[in-house]
Amino acid sequence: MKLSICAIASEVVPLAKSGGLADVASALSRQLTLAGHDVRLFVPFYTQIRRDKLELARVDFLQKVPVVTGSHQHVVDIWRARLPGSATPVYLVENDGLYSRPALYTNDPDEHRRFLVLTRAALECCKRMHFRPHIVHSHDWHAAIAPLWLRSNYRHEPMFAGTRSVMTIHNIGYQGEFGAENLADLDLGVDSYLLHQDDLRAGKINALKSGILHADAVTTVSPTYAREIATPRYGMGMEQALAARGAAVRGILNGVDYDEWDPRHDRYLPIHFDPATLAKKAELKRNFLLRQNMTAIHGRVPLFGMVSRLTSQKGFDLLTDTLPALLSNNDVRVATVGTGDPKYEKFFAGLAQKYKGRMWFFSGYDESLAHWIEGASDAFLMPSLYEPCGLNQMYSLRYGTIPIVRNTGGLADSVQHFDPATGAGTGIVFNDFDAPAMAWALDQAIEWYADEKLWDRLVQNAMRMDFSWRTQSTEYLKLFAELLQLDAAALIEGDAPQKSAG
Ligand code: ADP
Ligand code: GLC
Repeated sequence: MKLSICAIASEVVPLAKSGGLADVASALSRQLTLAGHDVRLFVPFYTQIRRDKLELARVDFLQKVPVVTGSHQHVVDIWRARLPGSATPVYLVENDGLYSRPALYTNDPDEHRRFLVLTRAALECCKRMHFRPHIVHSHDWHAAIAPLWLRSNYRHEPMFAGTRSVMTIHNIGYQGEFGAENLADLDLGVDSYLLHQDDLRAGKINALKSGILHADAVTTVSPTYAREIATPRYGMGMEQALAARGAAVRGILNGVDYDEWDPRHDRYLPIHFDPATLAKKAELKRNFLLRQNMTAIHGRVPLFGMVSRLTSQKGFDLLTDTLPALLSNNDVRVATVGTGDPKYEKFFAGLAQKYKGRMWFFSGYDESLAHWIEGASDAFLMPSLYEPCGLNQMYSLRYGTIPIVRNTGGLADSVQHFDPATGAGTGIVFNDFDAPAMAWALDQAIEWYADEKLWDRLVQNAMRMDFSWRTQSTEYLKLFAELLQLDAAALIEGDAPQKSAG
């Protein structure tokens, strides 16, 4: 059986990306399309989206579509494109006033309205296209008002009579909170009682909380994170709302798009390798060090890589002392690509200056460098404070780049600490969020790397891991089947013969 799915996300690869949400919105949609389902994905038409790279068509009957947000009358034009290499249609919501800004996300006073318009436009377009979604899938706070609108403004719409809503939390640290003086923007009328009343009295509206409370199912991107966010330490104020939903909350681990992230055919890399040709990985490493003006390596010297948004979530506070110590006490190379909090940019830039030739830092966003670092490094650092899923550690495993991770969220669900006695395990996992634990993990890496045979075993284990979306997407299909009271096998059986989307 073919499902109709309306997915709403604020970013999608390769159109617009700031982090893993874009990879997931794209790969999951493509995989569900491959499995025979009708997925229509709605994203803002940011000015940052390269028009020349897409086959764009205006949707004639979706021009000048009025979208109400309180006293602000917005009008949107809808464009249609396909996710490259796939049949999945993307509907781009165009409104220059809202989406023509210097960055995808802003701190502007109308930030909440930019995404209310996206969400409302998606529902309006379904209606106008006579598209009856079985599932409206909201990704993160940007789309989190959809479940509430399906229970209020769209309750009696025949197009949504059989619709179930799913709210996926990619990161509970971003909640889309805005002042209650903007209540009218939600256009709820008498249904405003559906909002969280204590929040309203406190003068705020929390988009994510509304999604959690009203969605038919709430998912997050790993089973461990699903458990963690039920606690005050990780819940960031959402733990009560989540507790209220009980078993409606579950974790589904993200997958990896191996068409994009595989050293066997990575289009950003000049040299390809697999577990049987690791000498080529070493060649790539030499190549990379040379390109980045890092001093040559004689003998076995490990290269540590990092690619990340520079935020406290990613655990950089653990590196303040431990990374200089690593560089001072050992012959190592460190390569970092990232952008974000100026405090961390300064830290990495300072280290690159001090340990020139051994520590290299690129401040910015660069897709090609991200692939190079995965391919060339020996180990990958992800000491996150919290990590809903994390994709880079899963990419790293495939590239034989040993992840050094903290035991949290999706990191805990995808990396198993290596045990030299049994030869089992895929990475280095530490528990406590403190400098001694971080230092221990780095020392462990140095020690194990020095033993060529041991390290090779670890690399072989890592490269064998498989987190393909083909498997992970069936978890979503099982959930959709439950919500729709359908036989899951009928949804999964619809799976068309698999071929690479590339
Ligand atoms: P998050 O979504 O929290 O940022 P993930 O590990 O899920 O973390 O996904 C991050 C994604 O963004 C990966 O695909 C990673 O390669 C990419 N990325 C992050 N920062 C950069 C950067 N500066 N340049 C290129 N890619 C980046
Ligand atoms: C978020 C999380 C990250 C996750 C990604 C995709 O940005 O921080 O852990 O992998 O979303 O779900």
